[in-house]
Order: sequence, then structure tokens, then C-alpha cells
Amino acid sequence: MGKGSGYGKVILFGEHFVVHGVPGIVSAIDSTTDAEVKKAQSGINVKDERKTAKGYSEEKRLQQLESIERMLKAMGIDPKIALDIWVGGTLPGFSGLGASAASSVAIARAIAQELNMKVADEKINQVAYEAEKAYAGNPSGIDNTAATYGGLMWFRKNMAGGPDKVEHLSIEAPVEIVIGSTGKVANTKAMVEGVAERKRKNPQKYNTIFKRAEELAYEGRAALEFYNLKKIGELMNENHRLLQEIEVSSKELDLLVDVARKQGAYGAKLTGGGGGGCMTALTPGKELQGKVANAIKNLGFEVLSTKIGVQTT
Ligand code: PMV
Repeated sequence: MGKGSGYGKVILFGEHFVVHGVPGIVSAIDSTTDAEVKKAQSGINVKDERKTAKGYSEEKRLQQLESIERMLKAMGIDPKIALDIWVGGTLPGFSGLGASAASSVAIARAIAQELNMKVADEKINQVAYEAEKAYAGNPSGIDNTAATYGGLMWFRKNMAGGPDKVEHLSIEAPVEIVIGSTGKVANTKAMVEGVAERKRKNPQKYNTIFKRAEELAYEGRAALEFYNLKKIGELMNENHRLLQEIEVSSKELDLLVDVARKQGAYGAKLTGGGGGGCMTALTPGKELQGKVANAIKNLGFEVLSTKIGVQTT
């Protein structure tokens, strides 16, 4: 049997903007999707045992099968191969946490192990990028990169098709965050296409917003490197405002962001594709983290309390 894992992630700065070549900052979290793969008699049989938001597995099933077909092709494996694939792990199937990329990385690693193929991380990352197209249409590559390598990183898509710019960042110490799930499954592909379309129709408005998003990424990087937690929080708040302006937030996301700020979070924003899915709040220290997590839970939403900047590699 072959086994593999991929990290979940939160985007701290720049989701959606990264698709268009603006830099983003992403942190892997210490939750993974794990996969086990065994050669089988016939077909591709997926048993998905991840804890998910209601409807997640059903909504993503066809995209998951397409992603596996894409993966096999990218790995040069006969598409008629028969495999039993189990998917599980600690990363919940909530939209926004890179669960699809984490599962692609996990499955690609498990397939490689089962078939005794030596596949370097760089190739796993490429394979997961191809697989991610099934879920995201035109992905930036930030999710599969975080899922493959882990850690905290600066990511800039190479719009000319060459290698993306990926730099590992290190911070003084890991920082507590709270992730709140709206419970709504989001369609990343539709969200990404919506932004591209509105950008085409409103170039002036969108260019101004995209320019500020780029500055924010640089300011966010400096704040992380100086470990200026208050500043990181303020910039996250501003990033959320930009995401509202490009119409990818939702009523529930705005509610959870508000609640987190009222409880003292240093900053809060939606994370990932939006339109449902998850938000994240910067909550340094166990006490503040607990307070924010409880406030979100008391409203009936699920939370994941974790840290950014944990050394995962
Ligand atoms: O919602 P998620 O976890 O799939 O994150 C999507 C992030 C986007 O920036 C919206 C898309 C991308 O490919 O970068």
C-alpha cells in the first residue's frame, strides 16, 4: 500500500489577486490530508473519510475524479489503471483551506509509492497543480505549493508560464490563529472566474484594488519579518476590505470577521476562495485564541484553532 500526505493552508495575504500575478503570502497549518492507495481489480474507487462541511464531498465528487484523471496523466500512468484510494486525515474538508490541493498532493504521493515510482517534490507539486485545475479552473498554484512543501511562504505566479517565485519566510515564533468555517461549500472555480470577469468589465476600479493588494503583500511580508503582530492584523483587515470590494466575501464571512475583531483579534479576513468557506483571525496567545474560538462556536459555526509559521518541513 502507498501512503502520502499534503498540508492544509491559510492564505494570509492575496487570495484571488495571486491568480493574476500579484504576490501572496500563505502559511501551511499543522493539519494534513492523508491518502492510502492500493492497486485494485477495476476502476478508480475513492473512499473519502474526511470530516467535511455538509455537502462538501457530494459537491466535489466529480471534480475529485477529474483531478485524479489529470494526476495520472501528469504522472504518465495508464489512465485505465485500477486503484482503491482512501482519503482522510486531520484537515477538515472546509472550503478555503486548500483541502483539494492537500488531497491531490497526498494522493499523488501515495500513488507514486504504491507504484514504486520515485517522484521528487517538485514533480509532486506540478502534478498537484494539474489536478487542481479540476477544482479551480485557472489556479495560481499557491495551494498546491503550500500543500507540497509546508511552512510559511511568499508566492508569485509566473504569468509567462515559467517557474513561480516561491520563497520560504521565517518568523520569530509561530502565532495562534482561529479559522472559522461558514459551513457553506464554495465553488472556487466559479469564484475565480467571477473575479476575472468583473476585472475585465471594470479595469479602472480593479486595477486600483489590485495595485493596493500588491502593496499589501509587501507590507505584510515586512510586518511578518519584523514580527509586528498588530500591523499584520491591520493589514489583514485591509485585505478583507479589498476582498469585499471584488465581491468574494459573504454575509456569513463578514459576520465571523466582525465577531472575531470584537473579541479582540488583531485582524481577521476571509481566507481562500470566499463565497462561503472560511475566515481566519490573528489571535496571539492561547487566551485570545480561546476567546475568539468560543465566540464563533457560540454562534453555531465550526472552528479550527491552529498556528501560522509552524516549521512543517
Ligand atoms: O478556496 P481555496 O482553498 O481553494 O483557495 C483558493 C485561492 C484562490 O486564490 C482564490 C485561487 C488560487 O488558485 O490561488
